[in-house]
Amino acid sequence: MKKSPSPKPQQPNRTVSIIGTGSYVPERVLTNADLEAMVDTNDQWIIERTGIRERRIAKEGEFTSHLAAAAARSAMANAGVAPEEIDLILVATITPDTFFPSTSCHVQRLIGAKNAACFDVNAACSGFLYSVEIAQQFIANHTYDTVLVIGADKLSSIVNWHDRNTCVLFGDGAGSAILRSREGSHGVITTFMGSDGTLGDILHMPGGGCALPVTKENADQHFNTLHMNGRETYKQAVTSMMKAAQKALEQSGLTTADLKCIIPHQANIRIIEALASRLHLPMEKFHINLDRFGNTSAAAVAIALDEANRIGRFHRGDYILLVVFGGGLTFASSVIQW
Ligand code: UT7
Repeated sequence: MKKSPSPKPQQPNRTVSIIGTGSYVPERVLTNADLEAMVDTNDQWIIERTGIRERRIAKEGEFTSHLAAAAARSAMANAGVAPEEIDLILVATITPDTFFPSTSCHVQRLIGAKNAACFDVNAACSGFLYSVEIAQQFIANHTYDTVLVIGADKLSSIVNWHDRNTCVLFGDGAGSAILRSREGSHGVITTFMGSDGTLGDILHMPGGGCALPVTKENADQHFNTLHMNGRETYKQAVTSMMKAAQKALEQSGLTTADLKCIIPHQANIRIIEALASRLHLPMEKFHINLDRFGNTSAAAVAIALDEANRIGRFHRGDYILLVVFGGGLTFASSVIQW
């Protein structure tokens, strides 16, 4: 009789922490005044309706993988981790350099992480937290020890620069984190993830895939750019972020009073204000940088996390909440003990 292979010995799950963070934004600044010269808009409208003052735009030849690799180097330095130690690279993006190879494979080449497995995660603006959850599962069950998670987007490459409803909102950038098991704090306590595919068409790019391939006719109709129903997206953003925050708090057994800092998706200051009011939390608890970077999609929450970490908004042992939503629809929230 053929001998069946013996299963791997069961090891108890281990806790998973973010041991370092990083970020990168392109040098070029696009201000609201610059946009006034491009479309029928004005600084006052943009600030009052969104809170955004300026955003960063990648230069010619600077791709999502370059932004991601720069953010990865920043996180590796912060964590004291060498490229060869990375077992898995996850890049959350909706603006990959190429459909394939994945952007994470491009990043692997750029940073020399030769021992890593690589794949991309597409959950739009929620992609970074989806990736944190994937990383946490792989590390908790001992498949991998060190995972590099990156949220990176070059939304300037898919924005319709003639559409004032959308072009004022977005920017380019990347944020990253390195996850490992670490003694001394619980780390990622829980992540709640949700989606609603019936609402996909309120925020989407219809073209470029097999449904509407890249042709001159399709490009002329702007199918290869981002389309958004702003008011509907706004409504769904508030509802879904609220739901995600409540679920993650419930799952972790914590309340808002336990939280040192909240890192929300950086889409619109009014969305964050609505969330703060519903959670009965003061705005001071929220880390906000959308005034400087606009909405950088999958990168937004990751850049904000890195900034908040570096300026010491929380310390080892503190509880923080990250909460996001994005196209799909997708939404997610993580409770982390730093
Ligand atoms: O990661 C997720 C990405 N998306 C979001 O988070 C977006 C969520 N939605 C929003 O943030 C808001 O809905 C917007 C900022 C996009 C728009 O704000 P709003 O208060 O919902 O404005 P609106 O769409 O109801 O438009 C009000 C007016 C309209 O003019 P009329 O029809 O009242 O004459 C728009 O045409 O503002 C006009 N408008 C603009 N005016 C000057 C729209 N965009 C602009 C603009 N500059 N850039």
